[in-house]
Amino acid sequence: MRDSLVPLLEESFTGIYLRHAKRTLGEVETVRVALIDGEPVGLAMLKALSKEAGYVYYIAVRPGFRGKGIGRRLLIDALDLFTSSGATEVYASVGEHNVESNALFLGQGFRKTDFGQVSKRYGTLKALSMYRSMLVVPGEVLLVKDSPTLPGPGSSSPSD
Ligand SMILES: CC(C)(COP(=O)(O)OP(=O)(O)OC[C@H]1O[C@@H](n2cnc3c(N)ncnc32)[C@H](O)[C@@H]1OP(=O)(O)O)[C@@H](O)C(=O)NCCC(=O)NCCS
Repeated sequence: MRDSLVPLLEESFTGIYLRHAKRTLGEVETVRVALIDGEPVGLAMLKALSKEAGYVYYIAVRPGFRGKGIGRRLLIDALDLFTSSGATEVYASVGEHNVESNALFLGQGFRKTDFGQVSKRYGTLKALSMYRSMLVVPGEVLLVKDSPTLPGPGSSSPSD
């Protein structure tokens, strides 16, 4: 099944990111797939970094299907999944200049964070190990969504 998702990655990533995305596809614990007429049009690769922290490795949508809310639905699905397994925050790293990707994550209430903030919360050793798993590289920013159960900005609360 996972092999059938390789073309989707080839349409979405290049160079070192493509190589890493392919390797991650073979290893990562959870892959969620968006299907249209039985064909994969989008995917999300997810990993629990610890009991309380989830990580979205990659989200990708086939070029012809972008801009229709599929990436958003995959991300909301990922947040639901992490919440139901007890996570209190979810991380993702995105290319600083990747407009679509930043729009996707910021739109769901993610905010920028950094190594200092992660080590303040988890301690330096654990933060280092988390960073190793997340493979944040230069040119990428680390994002976090605190408490995935909280609605993102723009959502109205019951008291509004
Ligand atoms: C990033 C990606 C997954 C988004 O998927 P998508 O299905 O097109 O996204 P959606 O249609 O669900 O849009 C999600 C949000 O991003 C915004 N967005 C999408 N494309 C945009 C663009 N080109 N410019 C500005 N905003 C954009 C949407 O308006 C939407 O905002 P909202 O949630 O606040 O309404 C897709 O562009 C992609 O596969 N890119 C290549 C792979 C990649 O870089 N992945 C991310 C890094 S892991």
